[in-house]
Amino acid sequence: MAEPVQTPQASFAPRIFSGIQPSGGLTLGNYLGALKRFVEKQDEGIETIYCMVDMHAITVWQDPAKLRQQTREGAAAFLAAGIDPARSILFNQSQVSAHAELGWIFNCIARMGWMSRMTQFKDKAGKNSENVSLGLFAYPSLMAADILAYKATHVPVGEDQKQHLELTRDIAIKFNNDYGVNFFPVVEPVIEGAATRVMSLRDGTKKMSKSDPSDQSRINLTDDADTIAKKIRKAKTDPEPLPDSLDGLKDRPEARNLVNIYAALAGHTAEQVIRDYAGAQFGTFKPALADLAVAKLEPITLEMNRLMQDPAEIDRILGQGAARAEAIARPIVDQVYDIVGMIRAPRT
Ligand code: AMP
Ligand code: TRP
Repeated sequence: MAEPVQTPQASFAPRIFSGIQPSGGLTLGNYLGALKRFVEKQDEGIETIYCMVDMHAITVWQDPAKLRQQTREGAAAFLAAGIDPARSILFNQSQVSAHAELGWIFNCIARMGWMSRMTQFKDKAGKNSENVSLGLFAYPSLMAADILAYKATHVPVGEDQKQHLELTRDIAIKFNNDYGVNFFPVVEPVIEGAATRVMSLRDGTKKMSKSDPSDQSRINLTDDADTIAKKIRKAKTDPEPLPDSLDGLKDRPEARNLVNIYAALAGHTAEQVIRDYAGAQFGTFKPALADLAVAKLEPITLEMNRLMQDPAEIDRILGQGAARAEAIARPIVDQVYDIVGMIRAPRT
């Protein structure tokens, strides 16, 4: 990959950017790995920009009506989880053309070899790699554009996005080197907390995902209290009671996952949870976890449902967010055109 820049990094004001794809309903994994932490960042008083990345979603086929619905539902989830559109910028990607424009420039910076190493592409393409869209391959370069169009310095994401953020750093470094500028910040991934990787309830070695064919494998943010409790009660576990130290969870992926979920929902560390439940059977731990999950998620689900009654209001919020996002990104992308040597002639 690219050599680090020789010139010292100019200082960049801290700014947070993150995105979620509207490619299906959101899961507990999205909530704990992303949304909940997005709200914490907003509440720390840093400038926060959050995006429903609809252009990323269409790298695999999306039914147009469903895409619209899922984009609104995702925005409703942000709002219900505590994102305040007065304090954070909340919008959908396709309303700000700077993303696509910078994405193209970055397609010309990123190297085929870098892109070929992206494990998410390999996982998603599988044996079908000749027949997936070109967009799916270029996806991480658009993601770099999402972030760098705002010169964002910090990106909260789940563990699965780490490699894409390393690519974003490489693209920023290569752009700065190639053009002899100190224009883009080298972003810091913010991957923290007990649940940066929430696993499937059916298989503790697989990530909980909205695209898993089994609905039992995940908790959806639209599940009602009964469904949540049932899914947790039926979650795969082993016959042993909970150990008295984290070490004892090492080869027990399902048990470890449930402990991590409990910790993240309660706002505790996994160590604390193990201390409280050392020796407990799943017959005790699962109902406690189900109660906690319902207590934390039900208010969000109810608020999402309320917001979804008024799609015009959601669209209005996304439109306002897009205008504010555009005001930041437009001048940055115009400067990129200048740096790259594109003529920007006055229109008469
Ligand atoms: P996606 O749903 O793939 O667009 O992901 C949106 C955000 O949620 C990203 O920050 C992901 O890292 C995060 N995320 C998705 N699934 C999980 C999971 N199972 N555990 C933790 N974070 C997740
Ligand atoms: N690739 C991310 C995912 O699948 C979503 C995403 C797109 C994103 N652009 C982003 C996340 C910019 C953080 C910053 O989860």
